[in-house]
Amino acid sequence: MVSRRWLFLMLVVGAVFSLGLAACGGDNGDEGGAEPIVTDIGQTLEDAADDAGDALNVVTGDPDAGAVVFAEQGCANCHSVDSDAAMAGPSLRNIGTVAEERTEQTAAEYLRESITHPDAYVVEGYQSGIMPAYDGLSNEQLDNLVAYLLTLR
Ligand code: HEC
Repeated sequence: MVSRRWLFLMLVVGAVFSLGLAACGGDNGDEGGAEPIVTDIGQTLEDAADDAGDALNVVTGDPDAGAVVFAEQGCANCHSVDSDAAMAGPSLRNIGTVAEERTEQTAAEYLRESITHPDAYVVEGYQSGIMPAYDGLSNEQLDNLVAYLLTLR
């Protein structure tokens, strides 16, 4: 799982570097020698990948880990993911595509907000105040959860 995440980070960083190169016509003059030594390369790469992910609207979470969070947090008590059945909350069977249409936000932004601030957008036919705000989840848990929800199409 860790290596998969790193592979993904490297891919995103690579993609952004090539975009950057393409944007300045391949003229990347002074690479190498004069650069300062980066001591915490891991953190630097991760930050770069996060920025890149935001810029490219790519989600860096792990869907499999997100499915685990979904189960652990009891989301399934109120949401079906394998049928259209409405429970206390709407079915999330197609939420990956539905989320794209909900607001002006990207699907990932909408999903994140739906989890941390459920009342920011209330799905038609449902009431506010029923879904608890999951504001105690870590960034990583949220990333993973969003990545999982995006696979539901
Ligand atoms: C107590 C019941 C309940 C629980 C538990 C619950 N939800 Fe909800 N959820 C709702 C209700 C009701 C709505 C519709 C009202 C609204 O939009 O806030 C909703 C809406 C949503 C939406 C928006 C759906 C759409 O069609 O736009 C998402 C996404 C979502 N929930 C994800 C989750 C996730 C992920 C969890 C677990 C971390 C979770 N919910 C836990 C009741 C619940």
